[in-house]
Amino acid sequence: MSKEKSIYDNEKFFNSYMEIREGENNHNDLIEQPTIKRLLPDLKGKTVLELGCGYGENAIDFINRGAKRVTAIDLSSRMLNLAKQKNSHPCVDYYKMDMAEIDKLNGKFDLVYSSLAFHYVEDFKGLIKKISQKLKKGGTLLFSQEHPLTTATIDGKGIFNKSESGEYLSYTFSNYNQSGKRIVHWLVDGLIKYHRNFSEIINGIIDTGLTVTKVLEPCPGDETVASVPRMAKERIKPSFLIIKAEKK
Ligand SMILES: C[S@@+](CC[C@H](N)C(=O)[O-])C[C@H]1O[C@@H](n2cnc3c(N)ncnc32)[C@H](O)[C@@H]1O
Repeated sequence: MSKEKSIYDNEKFFNSYMEIREGENNHNDLIEQPTIKRLLPDLKGKTVLELGCGYGENAIDFINRGAKRVTAIDLSSRMLNLAKQKNSHPCVDYYKMDMAEIDKLNGKFDLVYSSLAFHYVEDFKGLIKKISQKLKKGGTLLFSQEHPLTTATIDGKGIFNKSESGEYLSYTFSNYNQSGKRIVHWLVDGLIKYHRNFSEIINGIIDTGLTVTKVLEPCPGDETVASVPRMAKERIKPSFLIIKAEKK
């Protein structure tokens, strides 16, 4: 995503995204959020830096969990305006900023958190290096991103194959070992993401000296699939990758 302009400031994209994000049975609420939130460290009295904070739902959640101060940054003015309207709090500071520039922020943090934003960043290694510098000793990096099997295919169009009766059978993808830019159609034409294979992501973290302590590829339980059948796709190909790492 360009430094100057966020696709989340495109009115059509923003409205469509919010409709999905706030809609019933969305992937975030059913799959990604319950899993990533289980990995949060104790936040009582802690400082948090959130990267790609969107409209501030996580920032408020961290305050409710006892965080002392949350610095929440995002590239999109629309997202930040909504965050300030819906989720403002005296202990949350919202800044319009590219996460590639967090070295300009003052101080260090106990937790650096990001939900579904790292696949928009071109220089993953550079980002992780800056995050490591912003973490206090003993601090935690916790993030989710689109799963590499999701981002792999060059036009973003991996395909779920179904039986004649409509049962999900398999997933077809390509270009897995070709890292780089993906220009995809999602809600609008021309959405830019970055694909990295699994080893590039994990080694990008290990090479900075952080210790990876948990890796999850969330999968819905029987109850979720029974009530929302399209979630069965997650058993064939996960949508999300969630990683926790510590600065020892
Ligand atoms: C899928 S949304 C997720 C929002 C929020 N984390 C949530 O879970 O509701 C991705 C967010 O990342 C932001 N973003 C993308 N690239 C960014 C960057 N380089 N720096 C800061 N924010 C970025 C977008 O503006 C958008 O708000």
